[in-house]
Amino acid sequence: MTENQIPEEIWRLLHEHAVAAMKTAYAPYSNFPVGAAALVDDGRIVTGCNVENASYGVGLCAECGLVSDLARSGGGRLVAFKCVDGLEEAASPCGRCRQLLFEFGGNSLWVEMPEGRMTMDRVLPGGFGPSDLERVYVADAVEDLEYEEQN
Ligand code: THU
Repeated sequence: MTENQIPEEIWRLLHEHAVAAMKTAYAPYSNFPVGAAALVDDGRIVTGCNVENASYGVGLCAECGLVSDLARSGGGRLVAFKCVDGLEEAASPCGRCRQLLFEFGGNSLWVEMPEGRMTMDRVLPGGFGPSDLERVYVADAVEDLEYEEQN
């Protein structure tokens, strides 16, 4: 893991945005509001909150809202991320949401976990991502080309 290059001021801003987002959560079933905030590589800050549903299993995590905000507001790569619970303390992203963060931040994304700040390669070791798809697609394309050349 590389040295934490994210200034303290940014972590403070992310905390403030995550707390503000948490206060907008719709979590009447779990009573567990979550707010998430991330710094994008162009300097934007994107946020999300959890939005639950009477059909409990289809509730949306705060990170779902955050990646939607990212796409809707212009895309880019996530650089630093934090989510908070109702106590305004760092929360641990669930397994599914680690996958969402990995898609848009890769191994170098900084994440503030309850146990401290770390990069995504520690939060989701051996993550499955776009390069895994690419490897097979390229091999398939080469195989198709060889087949066409032979026939
Ligand atoms: N939750 C999130 O929003 N993000 C996570 O990474 C963990 C869990 C939400 C889902 C549900 O609305 C509530 O927290 C309790 O599980």
